[in-house]
Amino acid sequence: MRGLFYRVFPRLRGSRHGLRAAAYGSQNQGAGPIPDFHTNVLVFDPRERGDTTIVSLLQTHGMSARVASRFPEFLDALGDDVLFAVMADEALCPNDLTPIHNWVLSQPGWSDLPFIVLTAKGEGPERDLAAARLTEVLGHVFFLERPFHATTFVSAARSAQKNRRRQYEARARMEEMRENELTLKTALLAGRLGTWELDPQTWNLTASDGFKSVFGRGPADTLTYDDLLGSVHPDDRARVRESVLHTLETCEDYLIEYRTVWPDGSPHWAEVRGRVVRSRSGTPSRLVGVASDITERRLEQEWQLRQKEILEERVTESTAELWEVQVTMVAEVAQRERAEEQLRQSQKLEAIGQLTGGVAHDFNNLLMAVMGNLDLLRKHLADDPKALRLIEAALQGARRGASLTQRLLAFARRQELKVEAVDLAALVENMRELLNRSVGGDVEISVRLPKDVSPALADSNQVELALLNLVVNSRDAMPEGGTIRIGLREEPDARPHEDLPAGAYLCLSVTDNGKGMDEETLHRAIEPFFSTKDIGEGTGLGLSMIHGLALQLKGAFVLSSVAGKGTTAELWLPAASRVVRQAPKVLPEETESAAKPAKILVVDDDLLIAMSTIDMLEDLGHKVMEANSGVQALELIGKDRDIELVITDYSMPGLNGAQLFEAARGLRPDLPFLLATGYADLPPGSGLSLPRLSKPYTQDQLSREIAKILR
Ligand SMILES: Nc1ncnc2c1ncn2[C@@H]1O[C@H](COP(=O)(O)OP(=O)(O)OP(=O)(O)O)[C@@H](O)[C@H]1O
Ligand SMILES: [Mg+2]
Repeated sequence: MRGLFYRVFPRLRGSRHGLRAAAYGSQNQGAGPIPDFHTNVLVFDPRERGDTTIVSLLQTHGMSARVASRFPEFLDALGDDVLFAVMADEALCPNDLTPIHNWVLSQPGWSDLPFIVLTAKGEGPERDLAAARLTEVLGHVFFLERPFHATTFVSAARSAQKNRRRQYEARARMEEMRENELTLKTALLAGRLGTWELDPQTWNLTASDGFKSVFGRGPADTLTYDDLLGSVHPDDRARVRESVLHTLETCEDYLIEYRTVWPDGSPHWAEVRGRVVRSRSGTPSRLVGVASDITERRLEQEWQLRQKEILEERVTESTAELWEVQVTMVAEVAQRERAEEQLRQSQKLEAIGQLTGGVAHDFNNLLMAVMGNLDLLRKHLADDPKALRLIEAALQGARRGASLTQRLLAFARRQELKVEAVDLAALVENMRELLNRSVGGDVEISVRLPKDVSPALADSNQVELALLNLVVNSRDAMPEGGTIRIGLREEPDARPHEDLPAGAYLCLSVTDNGKGMDEETLHRAIEPFFSTKDIGEGTGLGLSMIHGLALQLKGAFVLSSVAGKGTTAELWLPAASRVVRQAPKVLPEETESAAKPAKILVVDDDLLIAMSTIDMLEDLGHKVMEANSGVQALELIGKDRDIELVITDYSMPGLNGAQLFEAARGLRPDLPFLLATGYADLPPGSGLSLPRLSKPYTQDQLSREIAKILR
């Protein structure tokens, strides 16, 4: 073999990259700018005679060459793009080799330019020394002894070319890696992600600046695994620890969100992801991953959640409001329907009342005449027992008729009432015996009366009658027997009916556990003449009378009942002042000695009544004058100064009884008046102070009233 071929190994700094680049394989080939490997061979030939051998040899093998004839030119031409350099040692050695050595040292990491040094033939230590020196200066050197065979040179050139090509490939890989690294860094920055790595053997944590910032640490701060656990919110700490252990155990991906507390005390949220990297043996060697600060996202989520809750609350509220409105509307409609029904019912009762009242009034007057005349007739036929029996029967019938008209007048709210403070407890107590007798043995009456209640503003006789009626109704509803409970209570601030003012009322109640009423019966019970009793057993006027009485007394009558269970009737009466007065006792009428015969003026537009009254008066020995109107009466009063008493009807066309009284006062201020009335709807203040006599009246009643006045 001609010529010596030295192979000098590339410098170490280059080999690291070279190895690394080779490890990437060929998949990235062509990614970096690899120069044309067939060109750019730098030839240093100072002889200027054109060493055509080398240049042409290179060209023959597809490599172009640049020839530098001066050392500075050669130095200038050295660069990354040079494939390799060729020079003769004798051309090189005379020069100061420091610049070339510096250039060699300044090459980038991937570059280690191969030099082919052509040496003169020879041996010995001198030559070896020169070779060693050149190796030191140039680093990557092939020595080729001259004269050399062309194939030896070409082989060395190929070798250098191959080597340089690897370097270019390494450069391309490095650039690619740098670019990838840069891309990753940019991506991490863009995603505000920090990277971390945990060694499960030592629990050593490697954290990027980004990762540290997630925990409120600066790049210069240290962040150990214990520091990290320390900055986790105490409530989340155990979960974080367990999650890491679970990931290492199962090698499942690590994903966790938890609260952190930064060194300045502010609360934050972190999202940490990771994956296990296994060693060759398959055991987890590292846990690597990324983390980001998700405080903003969590706050946003919380805000949205809150908004959703608020929205839901509002929806619930408005649904409830709508529901309420609907319920109110339904209630209002029902209330209106009830009110309309009540109005219809009260209008009906009003109409019936007016009709009944009118009829009852006239009928009362007729009874007046019938009774008055029967009374007189009884006196005239005192010694005819048969006639007396007949008269008595006729009188009894007339009395029953009178009681019926009283009830009708009561329903029509036209009865004459004597309103005063009544001790209802005493009233009930006084009636106990009568009530017990009225209900018979099978029915028990239980009375519960409070000790100290206000008196009621009422007419005691009418209330007694009402109570008796209620008890009888209850008795009739319990044919098999049962219990009637009578109660009394005071309500200091009640409003028993919407037409009444709120205030203090007394409520007298009668409750039974009888058969009760169905809705239809309950609805109609207070209508006059409504009765479910057999013909002849009930007039159907009991409750209507009580209802009328309650209204006339500015109270209310409330009836409630459940079919099969029983009935409660409540009579509400306004309370009088708390000055307790004794219940009016039904005192025996004072026996008046009959008045001396007097001159009396009878005023009535009803001739029949006038006649009957006159007959009674004349029978009593009085001298009677008659007038059939107020005007006529006034005339007589004006003319006849001997008139000692005027008995007048109230309701008359033209001047009524009260007006007549007022007018007569102008003529005869001392002339006494007796007002005979069928009902009590006298206008307030007019003639109310006058002594009164209810129609129909008997001769005895008439005689007593006159005696009281003319005493
Ligand atoms: N306590 C009650 N239990 C069951 N139904 C009753 C009760 N009170 C009244 N009623 C019903 O109301 C109707 C009217 O009663 P109301 O007292 O007005 O007349 P009456 O009792 O039938 O006749 P009268 O009162 O003239 O004897 C009765 O016929 C009965 O159907
Ligand atoms: Mg009855």
